[in-house]
Parts: sequence; structure tokens; C-alpha cells
Amino acid sequence: MSTNPTHWTKVDNYFTDLLTPADPVLTAALQDSEAAGLPAINVAPNQGKLLHLLAQLQGAHRILEIGTLGGYSTIWLARALPADGHLLTLEYSPKHAEVAAANLTRAGLDKITEIRTGPALDSLATLHAESPAPFDLVFIDADKANNPHYVEWSLKLTRPGSLIIVDNVVRGGEVTNPKSDDPSIRGTRAALELIASHPKLDGTAVQTVGTKGYDGFALARVLD
Ligand code: SAH
Ligand code: DHB
Ligand code: MG
Repeated sequence: MSTNPTHWTKVDNYFTDLLTPADPVLTAALQDSEAAGLPAINVAPNQGKLLHLLAQLQGAHRILEIGTLGGYSTIWLARALPADGHLLTLEYSPKHAEVAAANLTRAGLDKITEIRTGPALDSLATLHAESPAPFDLVFIDADKANNPHYVEWSLKLTRPGSLIIVDNVVRGGEVTNPKSDDPSIRGTRAALELIASHPKLDGTAVQTVGTKGYDGFALARVLD
């Protein structure tokens, strides 16, 4: 057992080399994101693969992602969809959305994915007004301060049996601080409390270590 980040990275690299072999499309997505100056805050490869497997296990036809960045997690998720599936991803930054659009096109996923640019709270209100078919999976990975709102919107846009995933719920352990005045921590704590208390949600949270440091994610299933 080790609490040494060097060991986390070594083990992550071992898992990743073995289980998520080099993929030119994903590598190019990260390279072009970096070249465009986007921060390297995408999920790790083995986390992307986990999202992919969860979407497949879910039998997802429709996926909603909040927080696109350069589309790295988007590619993992969209690759789990059938040919007639659809993934909608919401991104505040036009620059990030532009990089993501090119990455999704190179991945051959532009026909089944849509990027909407703007503050996600606005996009979610617009989306809800369109009465879309329910989403089978929601991946929440944008501004953490709005996490409780994103969980609330997810409830309105899903069905019983849908899966809601919230990224970055640990943030180095600060999530346990009830007095934190960091809006990201407050938002994450509020989202976890909502998952814990909402009659239509059944969830858990898991800590992770690896190439992206020490963090974690929450999973919640939408109930009847
Ligand atoms: N899911 C991506 C990482 C997303 S990083 C991956 O794992 O590959 C978080 C993204 O959320 C950034 O691109 C940021 O611009 C975006 N974001 C921040 N605030 C937002 C908001 N209010 N609405 C929509 N997107 C937002
Ligand atoms: C940050 C955001 C993320 O979504 C992530 O996975 C890691 C870090 C951040 O804002 O620092
Ligand atoms: Mg994240």
C-alpha cells in the first residue's frame, strides 16, 4: 500500500498501457487541446474507459455531458453509443467548443454529437423547454459551484434507471470541510447532500488516485 503519488502514477501507467492501449484519435485530441492552450483537466484514460464501460452497461442511447473542454471524455462516452445514439455536451467557452468540435469530427463522432456553447445553466433551461427524450446517462464535469443545480437539472432530463456521474468530488480531501468558503467545495458538498437526501436518487462516491492526482467521483441512479 502506498500514499506516494509516484506510485499512483506508476500503477496508472501500468493499467493504462495494458487496458487502454494507444489510440491515435484520443492522443491527437489531447495534443490539439494542449496546443490550443486548454488546461489538462480531462479525465485520465482509465477513467475515460470507465465512463465508456458505464455508458455501455447502461445501454445508453442518449448521453448528456456538462463540461466539454476539448472533448476527450466526450469521445470516450460517444464511442459507447449505438449508430443512432446521441450525445449532447455543454460548454461555456467558445474556444474549448471549437477545439472539441474538431476533435469529435476527427473521431468520426460529429454526426452523433452536438456541442452547445454558453453557460450550462442557460443551455439546460433551453434544453428542458424543448422537452427532449430522457437522457440515459449524465456526466457532470463543469464549474463545481453549480453542481447541485446540475444534479437538479439532470433529474428533470432523465428517467428512472438513468445514471448521473459527478466528477471531482474529492479535490484533495477538502470536500470534508463543512466550513470551506471555496464555491467549488460548497457546490460539490451540496451535490453530494442532494444525492444523499433526494427520494429519487440512490448514490455513492468513490475516491480515486492516479495520473490526475487524488480526487473522486459520485454515481447516482435515478429511482422511480
Ligand atoms: N469533461 C472534460 C473536462 C471538462 S473541464 C474531460 O474530462 O475531458 C470543465 C469544463 O467546463 C471546461 O471546459 C470549462 O470551460 C467548462 N465550464 C466551466 N463553467 C461552465 C459553465 N458555467 N457552463 C458550461 N461549461 C462550463
Ligand atoms: C479541474 C476540473 C476538472 O473537471 C478536473 O477533472 C480536474 C480539475 C479544475 O478545475 O481544476
Ligand atoms: Mg473533471
